[in-house]
Amino acid sequence: MTRIKGNGGASAQYANMTIRLILLAFTILFAPHVAVAAGVASRGRMIAVRYCSPCHAIGLKGDSPNHKSPPFRTISQRYPIMDLEEALGEGIMVGHEGLEMPMFSFEPADVEDLLAYLRSIQTRKRK
Ligand code: HEC
Repeated sequence: MTRIKGNGGASAQYANMTIRLILLAFTILFAPHVAVAAGVASRGRMIAVRYCSPCHAIGLKGDSPNHKSPPFRTISQRYPIMDLEEALGEGIMVGHEGLEMPMFSFEPADVEDLLAYLRSIQTRKRK
C-alpha cells in the first residue's frame, strides 16, 4: 500500500487533537463546578491560617492560641460542619453569644473551601 507521506499522520494528528479539545471542553465545563461543590481543602486551610489561626487551633494537634476558642478539629463534635455554611457566608456566627468571636463574611467559594478544610481535620467524623 502506498501512501502519500505525511497525509495519514496529519489526519491521525487531527483526530488526536479533536479528542484533546473534547477533553479540554469537559475539563472547563466541569472542573469549576466540582471545585465549588466540593471545596478545596488546601485553599480552605490558607483561609483558616490567615483569618482563624490567631485564636483557633486549626491543625490536627495543638491548643488554641486563645484558649476560649474551640480547636477546629473538635467543631463537628458540637454540630455538623454544614451548619457553618450559612453562618460564614452571611457574616453571622452561630451557637454562641460570645462577642470575642469576630464576624466574617466570605464569598461562597471561600466558604466551601473553608468547610472542606474543616471536614478534613475533624477528629470525629459526622455527616
Ligand atoms: C479573635 C479571635 C477569633 C478569631 C480570629 C476567630 N475566632 Fe472563632 N471563636 C473565637 C472564640 C473566643 C470562640 C468561642 C466563643 C464562644 O463560644 O462564645 C469562637 C468560636 C468559634 C466557633 C464555634 C462556635 C460555637 O457555637 O461553638 C466556630 C465554628 C468558629 N469560632 C469559627 C471560626 C472561623 C471559621 C474563623 C476564621 C474565619 C474564626 N472562628 C476566627 C475566637 C475567634
